[in-house]
Amino acid sequence: MTAASPSIPAEIAELLAFYASAGVDDALEDAPINRFAEPAARPAVRGPGERNPAERAAAAPRREDSRPAPEQAPARAETPNPPAPPSGIDASSVPDAPTRMPATAAVPDEAQALLARQLAASAATLDELRQHMAAFDGCNLKFTAKNLVFADGNPNADLMLVGEAPGRDEDLEGLPFVGRSGRLLDRMLAAIGLDRSSAYIANIIPWRPPGNRTPTPHETEICRPFIERQIELVNPKVLVNLGGPSAKTLLNTTEGILRLRGNWRVHTTASGTAIPAMPTLHPAYLLRTPAHKKLAWRDFLEVKAKLRGLA
Ligand code: URA
Repeated sequence: MTAASPSIPAEIAELLAFYASAGVDDALEDAPINRFAEPAARPAVRGPGERNPAERAAAAPRREDSRPAPEQAPARAETPNPPAPPSGIDASSVPDAPTRMPATAAVPDEAQALLARQLAASAATLDELRQHMAAFDGCNLKFTAKNLVFADGNPNADLMLVGEAPGRDEDLEGLPFVGRSGRLLDRMLAAIGLDRSSAYIANIIPWRPPGNRTPTPHETEICRPFIERQIELVNPKVLVNLGGPSAKTLLNTTEGILRLRGNWRVHTTASGTAIPAMPTLHPAYLLRTPAHKKLAWRDFLEVKAKLRGLA
């Protein structure tokens, strides 16, 4: 949306362009609705398959790509502060980003986390896991995302990489790491002789957080069983944690990524398998801090050597 078309007056086109650059690209309601004040009247799990049209209409993608600080979640807004409204437009007429949840949104609670654990544990295959996740309504992020972002790559690969959460491009395509940071990740993989046919890629959170905000600890807790089961089912020889949130969640540590990176850790699956894990810097962080690419490069060389040693 860069220029006014004959049917759209320039001022409206400018306002729409402003909304789009601020990430407000879905029309919802004029006023926010506090769903936490309403009773959660909905079944815990819908049958296999998808969301209804009202839920799908609530998607609110906002960013090009993630921009994590090393200690922060990678999936944050590309623009930390919203841009100023275009000239000639009264700032008071610009509403806040949509916050309304669809009628079926769940209030996150321990019951949903328990259900996620049960569903994840009951999945015997990656296909089943994907179906369970597509049917799971217990994480509100699902209702603002357009797609479930399950995984990309080869599930039989020796290497599995786990990022934090999908961004705008990933949400649109339903695939992890397809935006700018994904292109950098592809180059990092190529540097050690791998690509998406020899690696498997997923995220801690499979739905894009609205506006690329950092997932809450509760959302992470609800989604954690799914990624843990995914790792267990893929059973890679080596795991790479892309960024702090992935490392903290899967390696059970509170240490920051700049301390963690470059040192082998272990991810232990529910069935007790110990998988060597290399925490490293998130590609979105590297895009903003190219001087640190050399650190990630070292980490990837470690990964290459480990894979070779385990072959
Ligand atoms: N950042 C992530 O952590 N995951 C993606 O899929 C894309 C960007």
